[in-house]
Amino acid sequence: MHDTAASIVWQPLQEADMDAVGAIAAQVHPALPERLEVLAEKQRLFPAGCRKLMVEEAICGYALAHPWLLAGPPALDAFLGGLPATPDCLFVHDVAVLPEARGHGAGAAFMAEAEAVAVARGWPAIGLVAAYGTARLWRRFGFQETGELIPPDKLAAYGAQACYLIRRLGRGPGGIAAAGFSRPAS
Ligand SMILES: CC(C)(COP(=O)(O)OP(=O)(O)OC[C@H]1O[C@@H](n2cnc3c(N)ncnc32)[C@H](O)[C@@H]1OP(=O)(O)O)[C@@H](O)C(=O)NCCC(=O)NCCS
Repeated sequence: MHDTAASIVWQPLQEADMDAVGAIAAQVHPALPERLEVLAEKQRLFPAGCRKLMVEEAICGYALAHPWLLAGPPALDAFLGGLPATPDCLFVHDVAVLPEARGHGAGAAFMAEAEAVAVARGWPAIGLVAAYGTARLWRRFGFQETGELIPPDKLAAYGAQACYLIRRLGRGPGGIAAAGFSRPAS
């Protein structure tokens, strides 16, 4: 594998990629297992929010995001059953990168894509549940803690270190810049 960020690129995730997604999920999230059908439902319902991370010809990561409601982030390993008619956020369900492909900016690059998806549709926020202490990473992109919006037992299912984070997106003439968005320091 090349060791340059230039060889790493996010591409649209297809239904045919879901077996690879399942294999990566099993490797990256052994403590937080989800059924492949649950992951596949997200791709089927909102392919515009789902990506695969390509390193040369190999899938080395995936990201799943879909429209949702800030006040009720979905439970882990649960079917959505459909998308809300009037979503108020893009919910990033998961970003998973195989260890050998980490540290080249893929996480940051996906967040830029997620922002574009949400802004294009006029959704005013992005939500996610940060697992494994990744809140430190997501805060770089303007995500902030919102403890009151998710019941503690639901949050606990995402692991002991989990916290629910929201990034508010600016609207109007100033857009993102007016909302105080700042790029990661790197
Ligand atoms: C989180 C993840 C997607 C980031 O992927 P990546 O391609 O390495 O992301 P980037 O290169 O854009 O950013 C790397 C930065 O994230 C930080 N980071 C990665 N995992 C972290 C963690 N668990 N806690 C805190 N920071 C973390 C790295 O330290 C690095 O910081 P640096 O720039 O100061 O060196 C990847 O580490 C991963 O798949 N982790 C396991 C699954 C996971 O935690 N997914 C997110 C669940 S919300």
